[in-house]
Amino acid sequence: MGKLEALLKEDLSKSESKITKIEKLGEHVGKDVYVRGWVHRQRGSTNLAFVLIRDGTGIVQCAIKNDELPPDQWKEANGVYLESVVYVYCTVVKDERAPDGFEIKVKEIKVYYKGEAFPISKDQSTEFLLDVRHLWVRSQYIVNVLKFKNYMMRSAIDFLNERGFLEIQAPMLTSSAAEGGATVFEVNYFGKKAYLAQTAQLYSEAMIHGYPLVYAFGPSFRSEPSRTPRHLTEFWQLEPEMAFYNQEMNMKLQGELVEHICHEMARKHADLLEKFKRDPKELLAMKAPFEKMKYEKALKELKLKWGDGIGLDEEKILMKERTQPIFLTNQPKEMRAFYMKIDPDDKKTVLDGDLLAPEGIGEVIGGSERVSDYDELVRRMKEQGLKEKDYKWYLELRKYGSVPHSGFGMGSERMVRWMLKLETIRDAIPFPRTMNRLEP
Ligand code: 4AD
Ligand code: MG
Repeated sequence: MGKLEALLKEDLSKSESKITKIEKLGEHVGKDVYVRGWVHRQRGSTNLAFVLIRDGTGIVQCAIKNDELPPDQWKEANGVYLESVVYVYCTVVKDERAPDGFEIKVKEIKVYYKGEAFPISKDQSTEFLLDVRHLWVRSQYIVNVLKFKNYMMRSAIDFLNERGFLEIQAPMLTSSAAEGGATVFEVNYFGKKAYLAQTAQLYSEAMIHGYPLVYAFGPSFRSEPSRTPRHLTEFWQLEPEMAFYNQEMNMKLQGELVEHICHEMARKHADLLEKFKRDPKELLAMKAPFEKMKYEKALKELKLKWGDGIGLDEEKILMKERTQPIFLTNQPKEMRAFYMKIDPDDKKTVLDGDLLAPEGIGEVIGGSERVSDYDELVRRMKEQGLKEKDYKWYLELRKYGSVPHSGFGMGSERMVRWMLKLETIRDAIPFPRTMNRLEP
């Protein structure tokens, strides 16, 4: 019986322990090992074929020679489909020409799962790749984005945990819209109207009266009809909320968080950044505290007038030439969420701060000091046409031990898009949800 035939007869728990991960092959030069994975690429000829095998830890090139294989195996291996699953028994050999300095010479090969011809080949349209996203998530491109996102979020969460924050869970099914009725998804909740959460914020605000520093990391839903490179209808926000924090302290914390993430990713994951043509030095150059710019000043730079919105296009212009993020503050109260506190020194505006990323990216964080006074909150709600009865529990927070507090929401996909210079936010999440896409 051949080596592979014997291996594949064993129970998976046993055979898997004998497999060498591709990332570890360098430690086995000169030795015979078992490797298994998916066929990532392949090219064949009459007597020599090259197959690239991918196992999630890396990709390795196998040289397969007809005259070095047991009978029949050549036929099975040469012309195998992309994404077929193969097992090989092979020798790891030094090869200066190979990307990692070695390749594997196949002694035996077994096609474990042949399947059908894989529908994705080179040069396919963005739309098609979105249609087959369930298959495209196997690409190194998507996997590398997700690896980066994972490291980035871990870095952000470690930063908060080290400062004494407590992670909390906010509901995804809610009874009222927190970020305005225009972008809320309605669901039927046993015959009652419910909404998918647009933010964890209101619940985090409740929690800080029990524990002063909290954060939630979870999905937010917005029925955004906009088709832009920075909007999803489902995205993941990291939302810290802090008791006894004013807006100055809030922005200081955000600056430190963003600087920390940028520096840590540059130091620890330069290899990954370079795959996306992001020079780690550019991230190492991020230096908090970041500049603050009042809306009124931004209007001058943009040649706009009071009341004009600063949206996608305006942020792009504002951030095109800048190399550091800035906080856009003091936007008119009519344009901002009801929970944002009025600036006592500039009563037409609120104590808000959107962190705009450089290189034309724009908003990656939205934050503010919250209204902590009961009467002011009622006034702000009335001004915005909101009904007290819809926010009964939220108002009640201001009746018992209310304290100054602030918080922010960092869009994880927007951060990834900025840091990896992705053309579109859709690539920062494995299964993007947009107005026109609910599948796969
Ligand atoms: O500015 P937003 O709407 O603020 C809030 O939701 C606050 N309640 C957060 C808080 O203070 N706890 O959203 C916060 C961030 C934005 O800065 C952006 O990064 C991201 O969430 N975001 C989106 N990302 C992708 N697609 C969308 N449609 C997004 N809307 C907001
Ligand atoms: Mg915002």
